[in-house]
Amino acid sequence: MQIAILGTGMVGRALGSRLAGLGHTVVMGSRQAGNPAGTAWAESAGPAASAGTFADAVAGADLVILATKGEHAQAVLGMVGADLLAGKVVADLTNPLDFSQGMPPSLFISNTDSLAERLQRAFPEARFVKTLNTLNADLMVDPGRLPEPTAVFLSGDDAAAKALVRGMLESFGWAQIVDLGGLSTARGTESWLPLWIRLWGALGTASFNLRIVREGDA
Ligand SMILES: NC(=O)c1ccc[n+]([C@@H]2O[C@H](COP(=O)([O-])OP(=O)(O)OC[C@H]3O[C@@H](n4cnc5c(N)ncnc54)[C@H](OP(=O)(O)O)[C@@H]3O)[C@@H](O)[C@H]2O)c1
Repeated sequence: MQIAILGTGMVGRALGSRLAGLGHTVVMGSRQAGNPAGTAWAESAGPAASAGTFADAVAGADLVILATKGEHAQAVLGMVGADLLAGKVVADLTNPLDFSQGMPPSLFISNTDSLAERLQRAFPEARFVKTLNTLNADLMVDPGRLPEPTAVFLSGDDAAAKALVRGMLESFGWAQIVDLGGLSTARGTESWLPLWIRLWGALGTASFNLRIVREGDA
C-alpha cells in the first residue's frame, strides 16, 4: 500500500518506520516540505520512505494515518483539503488533550462528543477509524514488547475502512483487537487518556497497556 503519515512526532515516526519496514511506500507529511524531522526520518527509513507536505502525503495514499497534535488535527486536514480526503480511510490516532493549564492535561472535547466525530463531521467524505490512541507509540507498532497479549480498539462507521485498519494492526502483531462499534465509541477510548496519564505517573513507565479478560474466557 501507499500510506500517508500526517505527523512528524514520535507516533508518526514510529508508524512510518514500522510500515516502511513491512514493505509499504510511506510518505510523511508536515506543514512545510523540508521539515527537518520529516526529512531526517525519510533518510533513515529506506528507499520507500519520503517526506513532503500534508497534502503531498495524502495524494495517492491508500491509507492515511492522522498523528498530529489533537488541537491542530482539523486544521491539518484542512490543509490537505476535503477533495483530496474524499473516500480516503483515515486512521485517527490523535487525542483531544488540552495542555493550556499545564499538567495533567484535560480533554478539550468529551462525554457527548469526540475528536474523531468532530473530524468526521468536518470531512464527511473521508472514512475515519479511531485506533491506537490508547497506548504509547512504541507499543502501537510492537505489542510483543509486553510480556502478555494486550488489547487495542477500533471505532468507525465504515466496515471496509475498519477492515483495512484491522489488517494494519494485525501486521503489527496485534491479536486482541476489540471492535467497539461506530465512531461515537471513540468517546470511550479518548476518555481513557486521563487515567492513562495517571497510570504513567504511578507506574513510572509509558510501556503498559490494557488487557480485557471476560468471565468464561479460557
Ligand atoms: N506520543 C504518544 O506515545 C501518543 C500515544 C497515543 C496517542 N498520541 C497522540 O498522537 C498524536 C501525535 O502525537 P506525537 O507525540 O507523535 O506528536 P505531537 O507533538 O503531538 O504532534 C506532532 C505533529 O503536530 C503538528 N503540529 C504541531 N503544531 C501544529 C500547528 N500549530 N498546526 C498544525 N500542525 C501542528 C506537527 O506538524 P509539523 O510536522 O509541521 O511540525 C507534527 O506533525 C497526538 O494527538 C497524541 O495525543 C500520542
